[in-house]
Amino acid sequence: MALFIVQCVILTSGERWNQERRFILEIFKKFGIGRSKFEDQIENESKCLIEEITQLKGEQFDPNHVLVNAVSNVIVSVIFGKCYEYSDERFKYFLKLGTRQTKDIITNILFVFLPFLAHLPFIKKVYTDMENAGLELHAFVGGIIKNHKRDLDTEIHRDLIDAYLSELRVNENGSSGKLSMLTEFSLTVTIKQMFIAGTDTTALTLRWAMLYMALNPTIQKNVHDEIDEAVGRNRLPKLADKPNLQYAQAVLLEIQRMASISRFGVPHACTKTTTVRGFTIPEGFIVVSNLWAVHRDPDLWPEPWKFKPERFLDNKGQVVNRDELIPFSTGRRMCLGENLAKMELYIFFTHLMHQFRIEGSNWKDNTVSIVDQGRNPKDYEIRAIHRD
Ligand code: HEM
Repeated sequence: MALFIVQCVILTSGERWNQERRFILEIFKKFGIGRSKFEDQIENESKCLIEEITQLKGEQFDPNHVLVNAVSNVIVSVIFGKCYEYSDERFKYFLKLGTRQTKDIITNILFVFLPFLAHLPFIKKVYTDMENAGLELHAFVGGIIKNHKRDLDTEIHRDLIDAYLSELRVNENGSSGKLSMLTEFSLTVTIKQMFIAGTDTTALTLRWAMLYMALNPTIQKNVHDEIDEAVGRNRLPKLADKPNLQYAQAVLLEIQRMASISRFGVPHACTKTTTVRGFTIPEGFIVVSNLWAVHRDPDLWPEPWKFKPERFLDNKGQVVNRDELIPFSTGRRMCLGENLAKMELYIFFTHLMHQFRIEGSNWKDNTVSIVDQGRNPKDYEIRAIHRD
């Protein structure tokens, strides 16, 4: 398995990582990700999501599946250049493989750094299951790349795969291109990891968002009122409405703090012996950042367990981005998809709030146990009541 996950932007380092990260960011910029140019693409996906939920007519449902589908279609449109129907069985299976491979990212990463764990009898099954899911995903992505190669136009790029393949052609022709250290194998691994990193994280944050809205009806009503006043009932919110949706933005920031979905980021290794605040970290040691602890520090966030969006508002009701909020981590290795994720969170969240009132379904008195389950909320069902 180590072979399958090391050669990609997330789990590589040095010049190879530098080349790939720089290249992907350049392509994202070219596609307009993080800017209004890309808004329509997310908006279309959000409309499909709204349609899907509207069809349920207020019936109770677990939002996980529809949220994962909507979010994954956004990243898939960037990397594969296509979208899938929510009912597409092959895509559903692909999504399941992604979840199986990353159900426990820490376990996944531990296998890379401490490979002997995979041989321990009581862990072997976990390893084998993840490895098989990884191999199947690899084959699925490999098939998509093969199709792209068949009708590749090196001048016109439909997606990230086309751009990457075109750059690899430069290498094949003997020149030293932007990806001189990379290969078709690294492309396959990177696409697989981008799909996983770009789906699971954002969908999970939205899953927490629905949960916190159902648990906090007064806060939800404030979001509804703000959206109705700033946007009205005749159209969906746009990125341009952001200056008038200060409270909704503060709610989203508080959701990200509370959810802290990437509790320990991605582990890194120290490239040379370093001293930080009197502590010496020897070369080669693994460093894990505890993002969760930062988000629960009572010195930074009084009553850290309480859902309080006003933490992110100043006394004029304007949203304040606080440096201590680091869901995407910090530093040179911070999340590469931050801009895309922020755009998706804003559009999906404000659209869902514009269209629905979210209520818990059959929760009775177990709400605390739903919330307090760690990175993933316990499975839950909601009712999405259409707001006329
Ligand atoms: C709410 C959504 C997201 C959250 C909370 C999140 C969080 C993170 C975190 C904490 C890291 C580790 C940073 C570190 O190593 O210090 C990371 C890395 C990464 N994320 Fe995200 N992420 C999100 C969405 C996305 C999306 C949409 C993409 C796809 C484009 C993506 C792609 C990546 C990649 C490729 C890396 C590795 C970066 C590198 O090593 O240079 N993420 N993310």
